[in-house]
Amino acid sequence: MTEHSGIGTIQPPTDHADILTWVAEVAELTAPERVVFCDGSGAEWDRLTALLVEKGTFVALSAKPNSFWCASDPEDVARVEDRTFICSHDRADAGPTNNWVDPLDMRTVMTEHYRGAMSGRTMYVIAFCMGPLDAADPKFGVQITDSEYVAASMRVMTRSGAPVWAKLTGGTEFVKCLHSVGAPLAPGQADVPWPCDKTKYIAHFPQTRTIWSYGSGYGGNALLGKKCFALRIASVLGRDEGWLAEHMLILKLTSPQGRTHYVAAAFPSSCGKTNLAMLESALPGWWAETIGDDIAWLRFGADGRLYAVNPETGFFGVAPGTGAKTNPNAIATIARGNSIFTNTARTDDGDVWWEGLTDAPPAHLIDWRGQDWTPDSDSPAAHPNSRYCTPIEQCPSVAPEWNDPTGVPLSAIFFGGRRANTVPLVAESFDWAHGVFTASVLSSETTAAAAGRVGVVRRDPMAMLPFLGYHIGDYFAHWLRLGAAADPAKLPKIFQVNWFRRGADGKFLWPGFGDNVRVLKWALERIDGTAAAEWTPIGHIPTADALDLDGLAAGYRDLLPAALAVDIEEWVAETRSIDEWYATIGGNRLPEHLREQLAALKLRLVQA
Ligand code: GTP
Ligand code: MN
Ligand code: MN
Repeated sequence: MTEHSGIGTIQPPTDHADILTWVAEVAELTAPERVVFCDGSGAEWDRLTALLVEKGTFVALSAKPNSFWCASDPEDVARVEDRTFICSHDRADAGPTNNWVDPLDMRTVMTEHYRGAMSGRTMYVIAFCMGPLDAADPKFGVQITDSEYVAASMRVMTRSGAPVWAKLTGGTEFVKCLHSVGAPLAPGQADVPWPCDKTKYIAHFPQTRTIWSYGSGYGGNALLGKKCFALRIASVLGRDEGWLAEHMLILKLTSPQGRTHYVAAAFPSSCGKTNLAMLESALPGWWAETIGDDIAWLRFGADGRLYAVNPETGFFGVAPGTGAKTNPNAIATIARGNSIFTNTARTDDGDVWWEGLTDAPPAHLIDWRGQDWTPDSDSPAAHPNSRYCTPIEQCPSVAPEWNDPTGVPLSAIFFGGRRANTVPLVAESFDWAHGVFTASVLSSETTAAAAGRVGVVRRDPMAMLPFLGYHIGDYFAHWLRLGAAADPAKLPKIFQVNWFRRGADGKFLWPGFGDNVRVLKWALERIDGTAAAEWTPIGHIPTADALDLDGLAAGYRDLLPAALAVDIEEWVAETRSIDEWYATIGGNRLPEHLREQLAALKLRLVQA
């Protein structure tokens, strides 16, 4: 080992034998120049970020305290779903929606990629905990990485460092998370600002609760506490232990009368979770507070209600479209600094910019590729999947209970996607099982959050298509089973929503953002039994005057009937597409009950 960089400590802060053995094995295989155990301190952050600036990865922003801009390799900008694998022992357990490779084969192939992969680099060992440290059953992870960018980002996104090491004593279970950017440095070889490899693997081993990630530095591929652990591996833990790991925001809503409800909402990537989580209510007296913006762990409490916990401590939010008008709370959160911006544009006065931050772009920018940019340029200044990474505690709308180890009891769950047609602004499911059916056929047009074509409609059940660690049919059965075992009166009500329906002119029929509170208000009034609704074959929708439209921007009132319409022909076509989707799941693992739900929907459509 050469001289120690001054980050963390080279002395292991733990006597956990499994961790020490594993760290030694990985060091032997990957051959880093040094091994550093992260303590998660502010001083460590300062040294990591200074090192990143020195290496040319980060540019310190003079306009925001303790904040940094960086650009990834242009080929490493999003999650890579076609390189993401669920390596269960039995192929059938990965299901039809995941890529599968035999775990032994995957380990063999990846071991050769990892061999010597950290040469010339520092190997960081990060202990973290998803969810509050004082939870009844805290879920620990240890990530090994050769990326300073990842080490710094993990400090924002998870509870990490010394307090976690203190709890991770001998024998405590943890998820092994191994990550390398796959860019070894020969002696004397200069580094690049964003090291990564053309070949990428994001592999999950559900049986051994292990994650191996190779070749990418991008958040969803490299911050392994997030999608890899808190969704893919956690979904398997939830299946085995009787709970749910979901791609959901968690929001607290208080009425003018002081009545509080907690709700969760699942939308596919880049479909509005972070925005709804930080909602600035358009209705006076209605007060929204943030608990989580991306992931919710749902468990039944002793009182029979379903409780939601946010396992993360930061926001890794989509930057474009985030502005003072659409999401003032996000803007205020990042204004407090301590943030990392990836693939946004950079201004001449040491700040960041992206499409939608301000109405008019600055006259000159450095775009996400590092090129000069002016408003005449043909390409966007910020990558469409550029992100800000910022601590949740800085959010002005954060609810004090965001850190509560038991979580918050849910009154409602919303499922939504990006659909230009067919799906109405809101519809209330008839009951839990019908809600599970609507969630199982949730669909959305693809976005820039994942590599591949944008704007293609695909089924994204529960917004979990890219994040489920086991068979989708078993997952539906798990949702149905949990509901069937619960007291129906205590279950959250399930709604489907669509903020993205468009009129014949191609424009959105609903203003969205802060005005979405009108839809939430109606849903909560349905729960309290005070709002009117009209029966349709797909669920209950608001009657013409049931939505509170006080103060709605001119024009939208006239568009509301089109936004709420349930068009029978469109839905008949939809059931055909659902037939195709269900056919891909495979006969014996799609719960019979969902087939019955689909048949019942078809019957209601015929009779309507
Ligand atoms: P991930 O973080 O990738 O899981 O995505 P997300 O669900 O958090 O999406 P986010 O809230 O960041 O929204 C992504 C895009 O949708 C942004 O461009 C927003 O401006 C846009 N958006 C969010 N809410 C609304 C809405 O109510 N109406 C419309 N029209 N657009 C919205
Ligand atoms: Mn997400
Ligand atoms: Mn988000």
